[in-house]
Amino acid sequence: MAQSVIEALLKSKIGLDANSIGAEAIASAIYQRMADCGITDIANYLGKLQVSSHEWEALIDSVIVPETWFFREPESFAFLKHYVLSEWLPKNPQGVLRVLSVPCATGEEPYSIAIALLEAGLNPTNIHIDAVDISNKCLVKAQRAIYHQYSFRSNSRSFQESYFQPTEAGYHLCEQVRCMVNFLNDNFADPAFLADTPLYDVVFCRNLLIYFDLTTKERTIQTLERLLSPEGLLFVGHAEAWLLFKTQLVSVRQHSAVVHRKSKAAENVRKNHHQSSETRLHTSNNIDVLSRRQLPKKNHSKFAAQERLNVTSQKPISPKDLKVNLLETVRALADRGRLNEAVKLCNDYLNQNQVSTEGYLLLGQVQQAMSENERAAQSFQKAIYLQPTHQEALTHLALLKEHQGDVDNANLLWQRIHRLTKDIAVISPVQYT
Ligand SMILES: C[S@@+](CC[C@H](N)C(=O)[O-])C[C@H]1O[C@@H](n2cnc3c(N)ncnc32)[C@H](O)[C@@H]1O
Repeated sequence: MAQSVIEALLKSKIGLDANSIGAEAIASAIYQRMADCGITDIANYLGKLQVSSHEWEALIDSVIVPETWFFREPESFAFLKHYVLSEWLPKNPQGVLRVLSVPCATGEEPYSIAIALLEAGLNPTNIHIDAVDISNKCLVKAQRAIYHQYSFRSNSRSFQESYFQPTEAGYHLCEQVRCMVNFLNDNFADPAFLADTPLYDVVFCRNLLIYFDLTTKERTIQTLERLLSPEGLLFVGHAEAWLLFKTQLVSVRQHSAVVHRKSKAAENVRKNHHQSSETRLHTSNNIDVLSRRQLPKKNHSKFAAQERLNVTSQKPISPKDLKVNLLETVRALADRGRLNEAVKLCNDYLNQNQVSTEGYLLLGQVQQAMSENERAAQSFQKAIYLQPTHQEALTHLALLKEHQGDVDNANLLWQRIHRLTKDIAVISPVQYT
């Protein structure tokens, strides 16, 4: 009973969905804190939590997942450089690029952003980076900026020599980069999060939305839309692109980087309460743009668009009715939150197409969105079995393992991905043009 009250408090205060990390992980964090406080009765511990902000902070520190490393998903940083050089700098030769990293955990992500921007040739005076996390403990480590090998996993290490000084305590980041990041302690789940801050050109919000309950996911996505400048870029984690389908954030997937751009057109459409756009999820490697396309004018009403896809009627959808690719319909169903129907249709498809890597990958993504993590892992594994070098399936499985706390298997998968990507890990800007 007391545990479920604590879970509910964690949900209301920081948006944590108990299912995302598992009730057992939460129980173990609570019992660890009880042991640290010398309390044996969970009801007494709940009493302490209700009066002590210090204990709240300590509990949050024991439930959060601060897993991060330098240049995690290196394609994101390559794309950031490309964007700055090809687009932002020509438009703002004297401007200051404003970047937000939330959550920043122990600092590896915002410092990687700083290094990438320096390497793109920006002057530190033209860069403003804010980095936010709920955990003070993480922020203290971030500001100390001393790291161990674990923070340098699965990357090209060339930057390590250039920007870090080996010391007895670990690798110490050089002062130039340390000074470029402003760390802030704040709760992203708070609706007033960074309410009075000027807009950001670029936001990195990776590997947090997956831990939130549905209401907090929706609210924080609105916060991201609010914080981004018009045409601003949002980077999310591989497992999170899924959550942005119905927003004004348009995917501009480039290779494996999961990037979205705030779209003025989509914003206007939204303001007018017209859903004149259609969102499609492409998980295949050869289709790497997730686009919102304008429908012809006569189809501008929400209903016309939905009817066209035949997914909004509450009638069950028969595969026979579908002239187009079933997987497209699965994506459209999932896009509209009709996850059970999406799974059913995807399974129907897989019964007839048992060697469809894309089918298993999509099924895994929908199952993951339903918090059916074991099933999702099996689906990703089937996709990998069919196509052992399928980077997207490998990445989804690695993130899922990481999310489940299975660090060893996650690392094996990251190593495998790294071996596949090492030749393209440092992507020069021209490759995107
Ligand atoms: C897995 S790390 C992600 C770090 C980095 N973005 C990355 O992808 O490598 C998750 C972080 O989210 C932070 N966090 C959890 N809930 C939060 C909240 N409500 N507001 C801000 N940060 C939060 C945790 O403290 C933890 O450091």
